[in-house]
Amino acid sequence: MALAPTQQDTARDLAQRLAGANHSRRLYAKGSPVWQNTLDALMNDLGNYFKAASSGELTVALLGDGLAVGGIPLSKVPQNVIRFIAQLKLRDIEIISIRPGCTPTDIETLLSFLSAETAEVAAVNANTWLKERGVESISIKHLKLMKTAGMGSFREVYRAGSAVMRKQFDKAAQAGVVDLAPVMDLAKSLMSMVVGSDAPVATLLAMRERDDYSYIHSVNVGTIAGCQAAALGLSEHEIQEISTAGLLHDIGKTVLPPALVTKRGPLTPQEIQMMAIHAAEGAKILFATQGGSRLPAIVAFEHHRPPPADKTQPYPLIASQLVALADTLDGLRTLRPFDNRDGMRGAISWMFTKCRGRFNPYLLGRFATMCGLFQKDDMVRLTTGELAQVVEPHAESALHPTVEIIEQGDGGLDEGLIVDLTEFVRSNPPVGVVLPMSAAFENLELQELDWLG
Ligand SMILES: [Fe+2]
Ligand SMILES: [Fe+2]
Repeated sequence: MALAPTQQDTARDLAQRLAGANHSRRLYAKGSPVWQNTLDALMNDLGNYFKAASSGELTVALLGDGLAVGGIPLSKVPQNVIRFIAQLKLRDIEIISIRPGCTPTDIETLLSFLSAETAEVAAVNANTWLKERGVESISIKHLKLMKTAGMGSFREVYRAGSAVMRKQFDKAAQAGVVDLAPVMDLAKSLMSMVVGSDAPVATLLAMRERDDYSYIHSVNVGTIAGCQAAALGLSEHEIQEISTAGLLHDIGKTVLPPALVTKRGPLTPQEIQMMAIHAAEGAKILFATQGGSRLPAIVAFEHHRPPPADKTQPYPLIASQLVALADTLDGLRTLRPFDNRDGMRGAISWMFTKCRGRFNPYLLGRFATMCGLFQKDDMVRLTTGELAQVVEPHAESALHPTVEIIEQGDGGLDEGLIVDLTEFVRSNPPVGVVLPMSAAFENLELQELDWLG
């Protein structure tokens, strides 16, 4: 006589059926016999479960590295279920609840979510996704977003971010407006990962992908603009607003011919004129968009506008200037790809020498420190010839850190002396740190940056 299955058996069988169906969904075409058999078996088991269970729904819940099915933690997790658990984690899913009345189509839709490319769904709310596709019998609870602010999860948000931006670029092209909510959510996720983490901006930027330039560029600019806002001590709300504005700064490019947007290299005078309209067009799209503040529209309008030479004229908003700095750095990465600190230092030095008039010098100085232009223990040459070692970078004035003199020069500073260089800004001659120029940026002209838009 066969023994009646224990609760543990039932839980494990269901987990294996679900994991198996999820695996088949990835391997076999819809309607193929293998897929159909797997789905039938799962539906059959679900039907039996609902007949026997009193709770009215089946929950599949993450439990640390394990899984609980119908409230029963699996005592031993089968190999295929381990892979299934990893997929739930990648999508930040904590609990899947399946209710009686669930149809094979509902299950298929759930499995398409679980087997979609991570980048497409990582920042998507699974419940909304299922509801939009007519699934009423399944709900999903996400893990609290980004519980662990590790680089792994940042990479996921980053990838997901480019998918979010792609959707909004498409929407702007078709409807002339965007959905602000998912972009604001993205800004929130990015900022919750970056602000307060000790991962230097250089590391975050190094994750740039080669394709999908506009979307990745948007995520980079949104991230760096938000980091600057945080470094300035602005409020959480302001940081998120500025990051959102950064994400959307180039949305006006959707009105340009795609060939112009992706064109690298010299633009004709007509193309330059055409490229220039993306700022005003972006503002139009964002003004037409409902909900949220007006800030993204203003920033889009101003992000290529330098501070006026005539000081009586109005300045671009601080938010616009922060986005312009982030935009420039990311543009430089596109023109002269770098993924290490030396490259970053070369890019920032280039900004100091070539774009002085384009940025507020105070904001540029802060930006440079935030990016790690000079860090503790760096060896530097002073403008008066001394060799020195950085003791502490200066948050507001990147070129004037506190240094220890290692070797004398012409500035009369003795070996071993610890000097706060901000005290020598107005001395005669003024003393600062020589910019670490890099050969990669030596021949880069400003107009190349402008060609990127
Ligand atoms: Fe841009
Ligand atoms: Fe732009």
